Amino acid sequence: MQSTTRKIVILGTGGTIAGASSSATDNVGYKAGQLSVQSLVGAIPALASLPLEAEQLAQLDSKDMDHGTWTRLAHRVQALVDREDVQGVVITHGTDTLEETAYVLQRVLAPTKPVVLTAAMRPATAVQADGPQNLLDAVALAGTSGVQGVVAVVAGQVWSGLELRKQHTYRLDAFTAGADAGPLGVIEEGHVRQFRAWPAGTPLGLAVLPAPGKAWPWVAVLASHAGIEARALNAWQAAGLEGLVLACTGNGTWHQSLEAPLQALKDQGVPVWRTTRCAQGPIVGAPNEKGAALSPWAARIELMLTLLQARG
Ligand code: SIN
Repeated sequence: MQSTTRKIVILGTGGTIAGASSSATDNVGYKAGQLSVQSLVGAIPALASLPLEAEQLAQLDSKDMDHGTWTRLAHRVQALVDREDVQGVVITHGTDTLEETAYVLQRVLAPTKPVVLTAAMRPATAVQADGPQNLLDAVALAGTSGVQGVVAVVAGQVWSGLELRKQHTYRLDAFTAGADAGPLGVIEEGHVRQFRAWPAGTPLGLAVLPAPGKAWPWVAVLASHAGIEARALNAWQAAGLEGLVLACTGNGTWHQSLEAPLQALKDQGVPVWRTTRCAQGPIVGAPNEKGAALSPWAARIELMLTLLQARG
């Protein structure tokens, strides 16, 4: 693999990587999305000599990510990857919903250039902040020829945008693939060691996304659990729910008290998709069932995109 001299554009969206705390030893009591992406880049001397552009697209704690910001981000990324002088795009993001943003971007854009999300588990003010190394790795990955698709790099590991899941609340290596497959590769001293193929596929295209200001379909996630009440589901149905993703127990089962409200939803034509609430593994025995191999959060996006395609 070889580095190119074309530009890498870094889009800032906030997160802990841009977070600040009043104490350098406090890794949890900080505010996300405080520092500009330009200042994050400026804090890494090794980036100074590279052909980079930095742009603040949003400044959020990613728990507050919304569909409108996804739409703006998707349009901006598409415009950048269409530029001849752009080699790749890096997106700084919060870890909490990084997997959702990565999934939607890959399904809508399936870029043939690298679009690399990165993040941090500790704020920029921490004694040992992880953000600078992650950003450096992301720029190196985006500058590596042959890399394509939406991927994420955190703690030296490269994840597919269609697979990654946040699995730890605190550890620096907070992500997994949620399956048995592991990362796509690792990045060591700026060099990529690849294990599996980069994400690919046919993009749905920007036209699938609702116009700015228009609502996305209302698709909710409900986890089945001991003692669950059917009332919530009845209330959602009455309020106009358009799709449901069940985070099922084990290998795709749900509490018997959900039988009647689920049937009522199905009778009304509301799609109900199964996923598992287990941290690892697909629903085994359901290879053709949409969503059964996805996390509940990725399945929610996939179902929204399916409903948007049907809207035409
Ligand atoms: C966020 O997701 O914006 C806050 C948490 C983090 O980035 O780790």
